[in-house]
Order: sequence, then structure tokens, then C-alpha cells
Amino acid sequence: MATHYTRAELAKRVIRKADYTPCEEAFVDTRLPGREGKLNYCIIGAGVSENENQVVNLSEPHGFNLGGVSLPTGKINSLHSHTTAEVFLVVRGDWRFFWGHNGDDGEAVLSPGDVISIPTGTFRAFESVGSDDNFMISFLGEDDPGHVTWGNDVIEQAAAYGFYLAESGMLIDTTKGDSVPEGTPVLQSLTPEQLRSYNRTSQAEMEARVYNVERFPGRTDAFADCALAGGAKTYHAIIGEGAHEIDTWRAHILNPHSFSLGAIAADPGNGFLPHRAEVPVVLVVGAGSWQVTMGEPDDETSFEIDTEDTLSIPAGITRSIRCRGDQPGLIYLAYGGDQKVSITWSDAVREALDSAATGAPLKADS
Ligand SMILES: [Fe+2]
Repeated sequence: MATHYTRAELAKRVIRKADYTPCEEAFVDTRLPGREGKLNYCIIGAGVSENENQVVNLSEPHGFNLGGVSLPTGKINSLHSHTTAEVFLVVRGDWRFFWGHNGDDGEAVLSPGDVISIPTGTFRAFESVGSDDNFMISFLGEDDPGHVTWGNDVIEQAAAYGFYLAESGMLIDTTKGDSVPEGTPVLQSLTPEQLRSYNRTSQAEMEARVYNVERFPGRTDAFADCALAGGAKTYHAIIGEGAHEIDTWRAHILNPHSFSLGAIAADPGNGFLPHRAEVPVVLVVGAGSWQVTMGEPDDETSFEIDTEDTLSIPAGITRSIRCRGDQPGLIYLAYGGDQKVSITWSDAVREALDSAATGAPLKADS
């Protein structure tokens, strides 16, 4: 696998908050009363957008999709289900999630820093219950997460307003002069029998799928470099096998998502020392400012990323991730795939670890 990238190639993988491009009509439900004003973002992958005009910042497959959403307070993102994992990271605002066939099996009000993994096949909806200055990052499992299955209320109301969804997932808006092409099947309401095949998730089950780095301790010894100068950090294993190096430790949420999610909290000057991983990893800055350096020592490229920015590190490249500035930082790491991610430390890190283990001084040139 190629591990040399030009600065221009790597710069395309740095997606800043200002680069996120909203789509006002990504989904059929945005046209319905009480649901207007939703903004959807496709940061990595097209996700499940129903609008072919949706801007996608980075299309390269990562094994999962990364998007975002904001919603005027008082408006609802309608009841729907997915055929893959869906995880939300609350960045700004307060959000009420509710779920079940009729949206009444349970509810959870989430605040910044909360991560929630919605079980696949569970109907879920949410609304903003705080400030209009709100934003959530969303992760969808698989490179192709398929199409949204909308609750019957959405399908029925949309038809009354002249909107239809083709089974291909594309929106047909007859109010704008489009017509349903002859022979094109459009989505119909689910029958009671079909509805029964969707999950019921209890309040306790859903609450067990919520994580916040402020409420769990994480570990300060999750990686070999934690003991070295510049490597001090607290790692949070949120979803899946991830990349940590403690064989006996398991993440908070373990069912397969097609990606894993962790987070590191570090003080300025600390973070990950140089290493490689053989799967792509997407960084989302939760707090502070970070410097990400990619490439070998004689061919390095660095980028500085700040709160809410995203950066995709390609598989196989040597990288270091360091909190900078004068404030503690938090950064989320989403690795593609369900497998345990193996970390390969750079020669310099390995020599420093050997030296620390044996008490021998480091070589002058290391
Ligand atoms: Fe969704």
C-alpha cells in the first residue's frame, strides 16, 4: 500500500468545520410541517442522503460514513431506521432522542460530549431541545449504508404533499414538476407484520449505549507510548475493538459497527507518538487544538486542526497526533473495520521503549 502522499493529497483529507456543506433537502422529511430547517452534512461518504446534489467532502471509502446534522429547536428529525449502525456524537446543543415503532419505547436527552449508538433496525427520532446553535456528528456503518426506512407517518404525509421516495432511495418531488417515472416503484408504508420485524429497544438497553468521556475514567496506560515523554494521554474505548494495547480491556459498546470509536484526552505537548496503523482512521476534534504529522521523518507533513475539524489519516502512513496550544485537548478516533487495530511504533519510539525498559541510555542519533 502506498504510504507516500504529497502535501496536496493530504490537505484534501483535512476537512475543517468551515468546509462542512449543508444540504437543506437531503431527506424526504425535510418537506413536512414541523420538520423544516434540518441541515445534513456528508463529510466522509454520501451516507444515506436522498438528494443527489448533496456535497460530500471526501468520497474515499473508509469502511463507514461520517456526516453531521443540525436542526432548529422544536423541529423533529422523523422516525426512521437504518440497516447499519448509526452513532451520534453531540457536539453542540441538547437533543432528545426517542425510539420504538411509534417513538414511545424510551427517550434520552443528550448533551455535548455524549455518544449514542442506536441499535440497527430500531426506529429512532430526535429533536433539538436546547439552543439553535446545535450540531451532531453522525457515523453510519459500512461503505454503503443503504437507504433510510422511514416511519409510516413520514411516507403517508409526504405522499399527501406530493413527495415520493423511489425504492432506489432518490426523492421525487412532484411539486417541482417531477413525476414518478412509469414503472418506478416508490416506497409504501410498512404493514403491521413488516413493522413487527423491527427491534424494540428498552430504556435500559439504550442508556447502556451512551458514553461520555466526562463520566467514564478511561485509561492512562492503554498504549506503549503513554509512559514516554509526549505520550501521556487518557484513552476511552467507546465502541469496538479499536487500537488500544490492553488485551484484557473491552470497549463500552462491543457489537460490530464496521468501525471502532475511541477518544484520547491529553494535555498540551502530549498525544500519540509516531506510529502506523493499517486501516484508515478519522479524527474528529472534540476540544482544543491538535497537530497531526504524517509521513516519515525526512518527508513529514503537518496540519493543525481545531475543535470540530475532521482529518482522515490514510492507512499505512506514519503519524503522530499531538495536543498543542495551552488548553487540554480531546480528539475522537474512528478506525475503519471491526477488527482489532494493530499499532506499529516508529523505530524511534521502539528504541525509547527499549531504553526505558532496560535503563540503557538512548543512542545519540535516535
Ligand atoms: Fe439516521
